[in-house]
Amino acid sequence: MNAPIEAAQSRNDGTERRPRIFCDNLLGGRIALITGGSSGIGLGIARLYAELGATVVILGRREERLASAIDQLSGEMPDAELVALAVDVRNHLAIRDSVNGVIQRFGRLDILINNAAGNFHCPTEDLSENAWRTVIDIDLHGTFNCCQAALAGLKASAHGGRIMNITVPQALSGWPGSAHAASAKAGVLSLTRSLAVEWGGYGIRVNNVLPGPIAGTEGLKRLYEDRGTAVHEMKRMALGSFGLVDDIANACAFLASPGGDFVTGCDFMVDGGRWLKRGWV
Ligand code: NAP
Ligand code: COA
Repeated sequence: MNAPIEAAQSRNDGTERRPRIFCDNLLGGRIALITGGSSGIGLGIARLYAELGATVVILGRREERLASAIDQLSGEMPDAELVALAVDVRNHLAIRDSVNGVIQRFGRLDILINNAAGNFHCPTEDLSENAWRTVIDIDLHGTFNCCQAALAGLKASAHGGRIMNITVPQALSGWPGSAHAASAKAGVLSLTRSLAVEWGGYGIRVNNVLPGPIAGTEGLKRLYEDRGTAVHEMKRMALGSFGLVDDIANACAFLASPGGDFVTGCDFMVDGGRWLKRGWV
């Protein structure tokens, strides 16, 4: 029944868009920092945010990937205000200084998206201590580093600061073969809930966004396609298809908008029903 959908999805290179659902300039005047904004889901969020009028700062390790993302976005939107920051989220002091530079330059930070992450398939019995530590360091420590560095800027937001942490549904279910990533993201889920309460008094909303498998991304490629498990994974999707980058970007735009004013500490599942169906196949 799903064969045509599977064929269509396997051709998707990550560039397919959803129809535009938000009004013009929805995020006008916002300064948004997106970690891991040079590719995949992070780049998709950066694109939609820029389309909706935000000034977008993308952060990643590799300058050439950041430059290529900025070229791509400015080619599509010549008037967009875009900034690149080459820094590793694991480096607490470098993150503090870089994020502080953004806050000094713009006088505030309105939105932080913690999207940078590392993952690969490896059974736990084969995982080296450094492999485990590396993923925990990027996903969990990196998210902590960015949240703490952003706090002063988020407090100064006239819109009520927003943090969206990109996690994964397997943080709730466990993830055989990716215990390192599931554990790190479970830590992020909990950090989100703690900060939603600790920083609610500053008007800062802190939420998790939990994507299912997203077509055309590195995550889908290395965790499913390269291992030949993409078709099986597709069968776990209640809606019969993988998501698009825009599905996650749309969720992040809603949460950053006035629509998200009364939403904090939530797990926003955007997974095509994989979470519910996975145990039935
Ligand atoms: P991706 O294309 O591989 O993007 C990862 C981004 O993070 C890149 O910009 C990368 O740039 C940056 N990055 C990696 N390590 C970093 C570090 N230590 N410091 C700073 N930046 C770093 O990934 P994706 O597939 O779009 O996934 C994005 C997010 O969605 C992740 O949080 C992932 O767990 C989550 N997610 C993805 C899927 C999916 O289907 N793809 C499903 C569920 C959840 P550099 O390499 O240049 O640093
Ligand atoms: N299987 C098992 N172990 C692996 C591995 C794999 N596929 N890939 C890396 N490792 C191990 C390395 O061997 C090393 O351990 P060791 O020192 O005991 O040999 C450890 O992980 C760190 O690897 P290294 O390459 O030095 O780390 P890095 O900091 O340069 O890169 C990664 C971090 C490994 C997470 C890398 O895959 C990455 O940069 N990922 C970002 C993109 C991504 O993961 N996207 C998908 C998001 S869903």
